[in-house]
Amino acid sequence: MSDFNVEKIREDFPGLSRIVNGHKISFLDSGASSQTPTQVIVEMNDIYNTHYANVHRGVYTTAQEISDQFENSRKTIANFINAKSEKEIIFTRNATESINLIARTWGDANINSGDVILLTQLEHHSNIVPWQQLAQRKGAIIKWVPIDSQARLDLSNLDELLKGVKIFAFTAASNVTGTITPVKTLVDLTKKAGAISIIDACQLVPHEKIDTQSLGADFIAFSGHKMLGPTGLGVLWGKQELLETMPPFLGGGSMISDVTLDGYSPADLPAKFEAGTPAFVEAVGTARAVKYLEDVGFDNIVEHEKKLGNYALEMFEDRFKDSVIVYGPKTMEDRLAVFSFSVKGIHPHDVSQLLDEYGVCVRAGHHCAKPLMRELSADGQKGIGATSRASVYLYNNEEDINSLGKALEQAIAFFC
Ligand code: ALA
Repeated sequence: MSDFNVEKIREDFPGLSRIVNGHKISFLDSGASSQTPTQVIVEMNDIYNTHYANVHRGVYTTAQEISDQFENSRKTIANFINAKSEKEIIFTRNATESINLIARTWGDANINSGDVILLTQLEHHSNIVPWQQLAQRKGAIIKWVPIDSQARLDLSNLDELLKGVKIFAFTAASNVTGTITPVKTLVDLTKKAGAISIIDACQLVPHEKIDTQSLGADFIAFSGHKMLGPTGLGVLWGKQELLETMPPFLGGGSMISDVTLDGYSPADLPAKFEAGTPAFVEAVGTARAVKYLEDVGFDNIVEHEKKLGNYALEMFEDRFKDSVIVYGPKTMEDRLAVFSFSVKGIHPHDVSQLLDEYGVCVRAGHHCAKPLMRELSADGQKGIGATSRASVYLYNNEEDINSLGKALEQAIAFFC
């Protein structure tokens, strides 16, 4: 931690110097999309300025340069998550598309009527709806791992729930409550049950290192825009032996080895799953973001965010015990610094708008996790419609949390 300097890091993020409504911005919405460092912007601009061309199509110099850079980005991302081969890295548009890809290919080929798909109540819609659609197409059954009062997974009945399951798809960390799930345990139990494990790692990958080889999962989905990269780039990692057996997802250019009037044969991995022009500038930007995060060091990031998370939890407890309900785990153990909260008597959208008057950016709504919203309780009442959510990243500092506290006090004074 000795070389971690949050003020120095903040200088890399032009978005953090904005003044909003006369106040220095306090960006507490990285769970939705993170800010972008200059290093990533420069890397992407450099492509447009010096060697912009489509990839894998031209033999001229700049087309070769960008093709090599694109494939090197795949290698960087493969190394980042310790994939066995860069063939296991499929670029998609976003994590949602990565999960849909599995449902439409592995799912359609392997799920039959009566088969069971296991999900958890913590899931984002992107890890629910594709499975509901698959279940509708095939007549499969969806079962749910419940949560406890602190929004941790209740695993007391997991052995029973896993019986006869074909797919267990679960989040590594909740975008609403910050709960980090016991990923390795879940993967091991899934394997023991003879099912495949699919991890929605969107919220965890920006904050903690994931090692695909020691984890032993079957598929992992995440996206660049929550980890300092640009929008438009999702990653699907899958075990090569599984990806090899799966039919292609979308059809078109790049994903074929041959096309005749009678049909086509698919390309080898990873091209088989990358129809059309890929988001190559964004892949390069995401790889640069990976380098940025690795230069800062994930141990430093975890330590910094835990410290700020504790600071925020103490603030909620000390100053807002009677007026604000914070959902999720009460401590920073197995938890990200993502805080969904309700201010008693004020609608979350009003809270968010009032905080904005002080330059404090938080998300409001159901956070694309409506089933989870129906499980959370406020004042003994089960089921809430929406929350406000503050989510912390490596560039946030105590001043951001103080600004949140000050703005919350103003909002409460205004409304109550
Ligand atoms: N899934 C993103 C969020 O939680 C957009 O805000």
